[in-house]
Amino acid sequence: MRETKIINQGWYFSDTATACPSTLPSDWKGLDLPHTWNGKDGQDGGNDYKRCKAFYCKEIPASELTGKENYLEFDAVNSSAEVFWNGKSLCVHHGGYSRFRVIIPCDDIKEKNILTVSADNSPNETVYPQTADFTFYGGIYRSVKLICVPETHFDLDYYGAPGITVTPELKGENADIKIQAYTKNADGTTVKFTVLDGENIVGEAQSHDGEALITINNVHLWNGRIDPHLYTLNAELVKDGEVLDNISTRFGCRTFKVDPEKGFILNGKEYPLRGVSRHQDNPDKGNALSYEDHKRDIDLILEVGANTIRLAHYQHAQEFYDLCDESGLVIWAEIPYISRHMHDAYDNTISQMTELVTQNYNHASICFWGLSNEITIAGADDPHLIKNHKDLNNLVHKLDSTRLTTIASVTMCSPDNEYVHISDVLSYNHYFGWYGGSTEMNGKWFDDFHKKYPNKPIGLSEYGCEALNWHTSNPVQGDYTEEYQSYYHEELIKQIAERPYIWATHVWNMFDFAADARAEGGENGMNHKGLVTFDRQYKKDSFYAYKAWLNPEPMVHLCSKRYIDRVEDVTKVTVYSNCNEVELFANGVSVAKQTKGKYPFFYFEVKNEGETTLEAKADGLTDTSTIRKVDTPNEDYIMKEENQVINWFEITTPTGFFSINDTIGDIMSTFKGKICMVKLLLLIKKVMSQGTKDGKAEVMGFSFGKINKSMIESMYGMVKGFTIKRCFMMLGNKFTKEQILEVNAMLNKVKKK
Ligand code: GCU
Repeated sequence: MRETKIINQGWYFSDTATACPSTLPSDWKGLDLPHTWNGKDGQDGGNDYKRCKAFYCKEIPASELTGKENYLEFDAVNSSAEVFWNGKSLCVHHGGYSRFRVIIPCDDIKEKNILTVSADNSPNETVYPQTADFTFYGGIYRSVKLICVPETHFDLDYYGAPGITVTPELKGENADIKIQAYTKNADGTTVKFTVLDGENIVGEAQSHDGEALITINNVHLWNGRIDPHLYTLNAELVKDGEVLDNISTRFGCRTFKVDPEKGFILNGKEYPLRGVSRHQDNPDKGNALSYEDHKRDIDLILEVGANTIRLAHYQHAQEFYDLCDESGLVIWAEIPYISRHMHDAYDNTISQMTELVTQNYNHASICFWGLSNEITIAGADDPHLIKNHKDLNNLVHKLDSTRLTTIASVTMCSPDNEYVHISDVLSYNHYFGWYGGSTEMNGKWFDDFHKKYPNKPIGLSEYGCEALNWHTSNPVQGDYTEEYQSYYHEELIKQIAERPYIWATHVWNMFDFAADARAEGGENGMNHKGLVTFDRQYKKDSFYAYKAWLNPEPMVHLCSKRYIDRVEDVTKVTVYSNCNEVELFANGVSVAKQTKGKYPFFYFEVKNEGETTLEAKADGLTDTSTIRKVDTPNEDYIMKEENQVINWFEITTPTGFFSINDTIGDIMSTFKGKICMVKLLLLIKKVMSQGTKDGKAEVMGFSFGKINKSMIESMYGMVKGFTIKRCFMMLGNKFTKEQILEVNAMLNKVKKK
């Protein structure tokens, strides 16, 4: 029988060693897995985290190798791994998010063996991802196991897959369960299958070739968050009456489809997919997570009321997909084929996709396989990119005929482009109202698309906006306040709710996450678009906007609790509640009672005098906050510029003339403004080429030389809403104060229209 042992304890680690050691390097740093070496430097900004090859080493005594065949299983090593046994290389694996296994050579087992694994996250043009808005933490950041099996066993050699596939097909009240088990050295064996519903056996079969069909009568459906019912399939490999190996997997029975008009349909009923995307990393730990970390994330996602998650931008942990199965979340799973198409990484997209699909085939929660994300930033007319996508799409259909393929397209890519019509269903990432454009452009974009392509299901795979602990009574786009984020999401909720044809919507992002190259919002190294902070400790107001909209459990939430000191005499107070009536009290006196309109958002005007305790009451529930009248704005609420080179009061803004506080679009609308922009581009080119490998300017991993006319045109639509100041910030604060003030002075001489 198989024995599976987790071997996470007692490793030695070095990020300075240059080769696999020949003896146990007990002078290296001792540690336990999971581990990353980028827990700190991958989160503190500057895009300077250590990307290198590092080595992990561990002694494995022969007594541990109890099988006739012994496999090592790695749940994930980022980004490339090489496994050595007693100094000899056993395998190389490229792709940092999927599982892989390797067999230990039975003719090289000593009393004490040395297992060495190199993990390499240094730049590599043949492995995805290389350009993306998140940190590529290096390390063995998920578990390592030893699987000891007899010579005859269920397959362990095929792409890290579980050795068994289950394909339920609904037939009226019943379900036909098509089963295929894969075996090794299995001549003369029988596979015994048992289907369990809880403790009860509901189906059995025997097979000589691993193939079987079991019918479950009166099948209990897996019905999303309403009733995520799972069955268990056990498989035993039997020879001469003896059970040699056994495995088990869970599965769910459901049907789904996507209708271009009605959206997602689960088990025959409309089931609009409304949810979030998830990045997995945590403070200091990076991606080296525990089960508790995954569970905490799922609980928060369930609390917000989501019924779907886009698990971006890579394969997530098995524990997490299991939690999704159990909680009835509909999942979009994807590979990190992202941002920049690399001509030498075609094979890597194929292997990462094969692993994603084969390793996760039995998960009831997964309904969509994502082929790529914003891959056409540099343009969509590269025939190699198109071929890569067509091949991936065909590959997925061959591996799995039961699910749909999708892509997350970047805003700038034209809906007429061949690329966006390759996958079964389509999605777009849109940031109108954040990076550029206004919030209402979202709905309009979808209506235009839907009109032009009425038969193509269209989804919103990303939308969102940053918020830190900054506050204001006058939120504006790009201010990074909690109040603007709330406003933005209220607006987006209204537009989504009116468009049931949008087959899925995923907020970017459920959690703040690390992107070491970022310098935005006053805290470098982070993307702050989360509904919840990076440490999972603070739910921002927009979390409650979704909770009020999506989670039917009665709730009431007073917004802006961290915004106490206010200068105005009358202040706006926002309450989110799914109850029919909300009454607001100020120091115990009723301010007003309001009845719910179309959306669960309530707005009150409150007199701001002295200190006021606010209470929002609804359905026996109360939420409380405090406001205080002050004469001058509390500086703590204003975005800290200490990480920025320039303070707001140093920017001169003469009336009627431009400054760096103006948008690219406005500046470009005048002839002299255009000349200033050319000069600015030359400055950007100069600054961004300092310190790069080949002396060529780089912006977000794109070489400046490769930025062509069509790219500029397509990006212009988005960046024209950016102020010049924001551009400086987004380029990583690489400019000196003098340079910025010089640009400002140049703009100060140009008259506005
Ligand atoms: C992109 C991208 C994300 C990124 C996000 C953002 O469109 O797909 O990976 O984090 O936008 O800018 O926040």
